[in-house]
Amino acid sequence: MTNLFDVSDRIILITGSSRGLGFALAQGYADAGAHVVINGTRPETVEPAVAQIRAAGGWAVGYPFDVTDAGAVSAQVARIEAEVGPISVLVNNAGIQRRAPLSEMTEAAWEEVLRTNLTSAFLVAQSVAAGMIARGQGCIINITSLNVEGARPTIANYIASKSGLDGLTRAMATEWGPHGVRANAIAPGYFITDLTRVLADDPEFDRWVKANVPLRRWGEPRELIGAAIFLASDAASYVNGRTLHVDGGWRASL
Ligand SMILES: NC(=O)c1ccc[n+]([C@@H]2O[C@H](COP(=O)([O-])OP(=O)(O)OC[C@H]3O[C@@H](n4cnc5c(N)ncnc54)[C@H](O)[C@@H]3O)[C@@H](O)[C@H]2O)c1
Repeated sequence: MTNLFDVSDRIILITGSSRGLGFALAQGYADAGAHVVINGTRPETVEPAVAQIRAAGGWAVGYPFDVTDAGAVSAQVARIEAEVGPISVLVNNAGIQRRAPLSEMTEAAWEEVLRTNLTSAFLVAQSVAAGMIARGQGCIINITSLNVEGARPTIANYIASKSGLDGLTRAMATEWGPHGVRANAIAPGYFITDLTRVLADDPEFDRWVKANVPLRRWGEPRELIGAAIFLASDAASYVNGRTLHVDGGWRASL
């Protein structure tokens, strides 16, 4: 029987995949037989991630570049397509936090987060979609956040960026769908990574997460893999412009 969830013929670029959720997704896709392209800003963090996937028997290559740099993005996407092959799946995962109370947030902190979390997805997707549109097929997965639906203090820039990415997902689905390109989002709840370490180390926040999430625990990065494989596979061939929430039930309960 055909495996609807087969992604072994996919070339998958995951931005910001040297660590954290992006790295877990890269490991999951590689375990499923896909060819994965690891990205991060620095070669010294990308190379060990590639080595770890290869050591486990997976197929991976590394292309370090800054996703906020438009020139680097178009040059590196062209290089990947020439050296590795056509990118069939793009996961816009790179993201940062710069926490500050809204009244004190600097314009620099606002701009940096908007550029890294939102503008980068526009830049990388536009470069990658050119080939997808020409081939009449492709899949884009944007990593948004639980915070698209519920705000918390000190992360207004992050919330605005992820809410923008949520809207951009629908715009991609609408404009590129006619060309066979699907775009969807995954909205993770709270997972422990470098990005959230400061929260997990705060006993009050840790208690708040465990008290509010119906599954009563933080997510493990590997628990995002199933959603990512589903959206990248033929099992999701008619799923376009939607968000898959992987949050332990948080947004479903009061
Ligand atoms: N951890 C969570 O609980 C959580 C929850 C919701 C959403 N998210 C989102 O998931 C994504 C991954 O988060 P994480 O927790 O793994 O964070 P992380 O800090 O562990 O990893 C971020 C990755 O992005 C890369 N990156 C940052 N800026 C970049 C740039 N300019 N160019 C290229 N790469 C860049 C880093 O090198 C790193 O590989 C982010 O978009 C984040 O907003 C995380």
